[in-house]
Amino acid sequence: MRGLTNFSQSSLLFKSIHITIRSPSLASARQQPRRSYSFTSLRMAPTRDPNTLSNYGAWLTKHTTVNFKVNFDKQRLEGSVSLDLESLTDKESNEIILDTTCLDISSVKLSNVDLKWELKETVAPYGSPLHVTIPEGAQKGDRVKLDIALATTKDCTGLQWMTPAQTGNKKHPFVYSQCQAILARSILPCQDTPDVKSTFTFNITSSLPVVASGVPVPSDNSGEGERLFRFEQKVPIPSYLFAIASGDLATAPIGKRSVVAAGPEAIKAAQWELEDDMDKFLDVAQNLIFDYQWGEYNVLVLPPSFAYGGMENPIFTFATPTIISGDRQNVDVIAHELSHSWSGNLVTSCSWEHFWLNEGWTTYLERRIGAAIHGGPQFDFSAIIGWKALEDTVKLFGEDHEFTKLIISHKGVDPEDAFSTIPYEKGFHFLWYLERLVGREHFDKFIPHYFKTWAQKSLDSFEFKATFLDYFNQHGTDEIKQKVAQIPWEDRFYKPGLPPKPDFDTSYVDSCMALAEKWKSSDYKPDLKDVESFTSNQTLVFLQAVQDFSPCLSVERAQLLGSTYNISSSKNVELKTAYYGIALRAGDREAFPGICELLGSVGRMKFVRPLYRQLVKLDRALAVETFEKNKDFYPSTTKGQLAKDLGLR
Ligand code: BES
Ligand code: ZN
Repeated sequence: MRGLTNFSQSSLLFKSIHITIRSPSLASARQQPRRSYSFTSLRMAPTRDPNTLSNYGAWLTKHTTVNFKVNFDKQRLEGSVSLDLESLTDKESNEIILDTTCLDISSVKLSNVDLKWELKETVAPYGSPLHVTIPEGAQKGDRVKLDIALATTKDCTGLQWMTPAQTGNKKHPFVYSQCQAILARSILPCQDTPDVKSTFTFNITSSLPVVASGVPVPSDNSGEGERLFRFEQKVPIPSYLFAIASGDLATAPIGKRSVVAAGPEAIKAAQWELEDDMDKFLDVAQNLIFDYQWGEYNVLVLPPSFAYGGMENPIFTFATPTIISGDRQNVDVIAHELSHSWSGNLVTSCSWEHFWLNEGWTTYLERRIGAAIHGGPQFDFSAIIGWKALEDTVKLFGEDHEFTKLIISHKGVDPEDAFSTIPYEKGFHFLWYLERLVGREHFDKFIPHYFKTWAQKSLDSFEFKATFLDYFNQHGTDEIKQKVAQIPWEDRFYKPGLPPKPDFDTSYVDSCMALAEKWKSSDYKPDLKDVESFTSNQTLVFLQAVQDFSPCLSVERAQLLGSTYNISSSKNVELKTAYYGIALRAGDREAFPGICELLGSVGRMKFVRPLYRQLVKLDRALAVETFEKNKDFYPSTTKGQLAKDLGLR
């Protein structure tokens, strides 16, 4: 929710003034000892997201209409964007500042009249702010509709274009967008902050089928040639959830309100992978929170270059094809993205500093869904895998690093640099701690309360705290009230490094650890039977334990492990990556060709970053050569992060 009482950041561009204020807005916020507020300049209304250059404290986007033609030949989107903006002040309304980066803008109009506009100098990584003059200014509450004519450029970081040769059936081109965190500004001028939510209309013309983060509006787009595809998103969404994709797509049903879309050659396998679980996930999530608010929930399976496991674009989750592993073992990604329909998409962190409110909550919900379907210990099993990832990340950043805090300062930071498993796992552990503190029965009543309170709004961690305390001070028993009064919020929000480690239920990992223990002895004779009863995720836990061996396995033992358990030849990328982690630690050069092949066929950062990090230590030339060869295959985010990891930037 936007409100003048809760701003806490400054923009890079302007000298900021910091003052300390107590929030008068919510009763419990009084217990918050210090709140830092900053103002971009004395003249400007303050904003609490440091990663936007827009003046969203003065003007607010209410509706966005996107009219784009997909030009596959020129690999660009062409057309116009209309922004319906409301003035929030009487005094500062003669200028609207929007985020843009690498856009080719040709005009800005208001009621068909050209306005004066200017693209200011680029402030990396935030782009070039578009300053539009509103000659007469506006009164508080007035609305204006800006029409901006534009095309995207070859430097557009939010779109991934593929030639027919780069797609599954090699017949048609493909394009998809990825706007989180701050890439929407490379596709459309907007207030590119999760603190602003707008409804959307999409009018997309393409020669190939289109999906978008809106509900399809029935229109006659059958037949050949250029067709118009229309979508409406009537629930206000932040810019990072803007999404489109266009290509040779087939669809198949996977649930009551769900289809999967994929290339025609991949559609059957995609349907099989998801059809068993989709409705179960939805039923559990709705029972835990409340009714699904978006109408349809669909999944688009993207080409393998996609940088993420999944992206929670409303109506159409975008997913990596690596979840289509033929064993239904990676569908937890869909439980995760579906959970975002409440945490993130309906209730949104107001800036990337409070990102744990999106990802921590989502990880918590995803694990609750897993437990409801596979039994209680599944929750802990998944949490144990997460804890290992958390430990690895803390080790990588260093235990005092800013990026290991729950609330991460983002002033001058590229959110992509700060992105890690920390908001997921530290956020999860914070919520799980709160759950244990008040008891699951009580926490489960708080869940719908929280999501109802903040639905269609954005909030920060302090508002979360206030909501939690208000709820339990009102509804808790005396014992609960006493307990919540003791919560060390300051520590939990700002202490770097690992949070306190809880006692996990280890029932599902004991057998994996026992097998790993056997491998510590160099004369252990393995057998395929060792892992036959394991789920893929149990095999993964075993492999991760072996990865951490000190001393590590010898080359011969690593190879024996891979061949005996059929992992080196497995189709499951998660397992293959973990196995290659063992091979690389062992220094097994025979694994290099397989590793390089994997690095050229998958763009998911979760897999490629750790592999490159290890490979570069053993053979820098090969790592750099592999990167150079594949860099145009990787999306901008993967490319940028890998270049930094390899010391090329
Ligand atoms: N929203 C994220 C992906 C993301 C985060 C994109 C930050 C850009 C910036 C998505 O919900 C996610 O968390 N995906 C995970 C999957 C998962 C099961 C944890 C991923 O990609 O690995
Ligand atoms: Zn997520």
